[in-house]
Amino acid sequence: MSGAADPIARHPIGPRRVAFEWKTTPLHWIPDEPTATHVINVLHLLLPAGERWFVRVLKEGLPLVTDPELRSDVKGFMGQEATHSVQHSYVLDHLAEQRLPTEAYTRHVDFLFEKLLGEAPPFGVPVTAREWLRFRLAVVAAIEQFTAVLGDWVLRADGLDRAGADEIMLDLLRWHGAEEVEHRSVAFDMYQHCGGTGLPRYARRVEGMVVVAPVLAWLWVWGASYLIRNDPELGGRQRYSLGAHNRAVAKGLLPPWRELGTAIPRYFRRSYHPSQEGSLRRAVEYLAASPAARAAAGAVGRAAMS
Ligand SMILES: [Fe+2]
Ligand SMILES: [Fe+2]
Repeated sequence: MSGAADPIARHPIGPRRVAFEWKTTPLHWIPDEPTATHVINVLHLLLPAGERWFVRVLKEGLPLVTDPELRSDVKGFMGQEATHSVQHSYVLDHLAEQRLPTEAYTRHVDFLFEKLLGEAPPFGVPVTAREWLRFRLAVVAAIEQFTAVLGDWVLRADGLDRAGADEIMLDLLRWHGAEEVEHRSVAFDMYQHCGGTGLPRYARRVEGMVVVAPVLAWLWVWGASYLIRNDPELGGRQRYSLGAHNRAVAKGLLPPWRELGTAIPRYFRRSYHPSQEGSLRRAVEYLAASPAARAAAGAVGRAAMS
């Protein structure tokens, strides 16, 4: 279960009914930084379908969870991920309104999550329903390792503030990032609970990461290339390049490779637990200050009083 060393690790997890107004957010929401803007925008391409799929997989596994605390965390996780998915999908609508349609890319993401990783194994692969569920739970847990690392990074990414990044987009990313840190252990705990015991459980957890890391890297390069190539303000004059990406990293606009890379061997440790990732305290502090989260809390408070 969540780390005993962290004094606020056991606080309840639940969705915040946030809303964001996108009307004033420019296409290049980090001014003059199209590469950094679009590398981060890949999140909006992947998360609507990806997080919807997380909810489906955990819902499928929920009847197997016998621990009441974990059950409650899993339900809170599902509520948070469902909210993230919806809020990122609104950004895709906003991109389309700015003449950057994304369906040509997102239909591949939909195919990945709905068909390849759907309720039944693809191509009639002969694995039992239980093993297929365990594999998908291992995939969710591995992806959540990266969302925790990215969430903690974005909460510390002063470079984005210095560059004058759009405040609404920053609040979306940091609200989401903070909730990722907040629920960083849930998918892992769910996997451990439902994934059997001993070496087979550990081997499948490693397998989840071995599949996730390269696929995610590939989707990211493909997504950033797609967005830059189809950006109407760039008019096809620019391409995604590692050089431009690294310059954005140096300015603190994108996470350092080392921070992403070291998350992988850490996850392979037999004794690993995600409660060691990031700072829950920083996340909770951001959620107390986030304009969208505060407005959502205010709306809940007003509803309770009426
Ligand atoms: Fe999320
Ligand atoms: Fe998450």
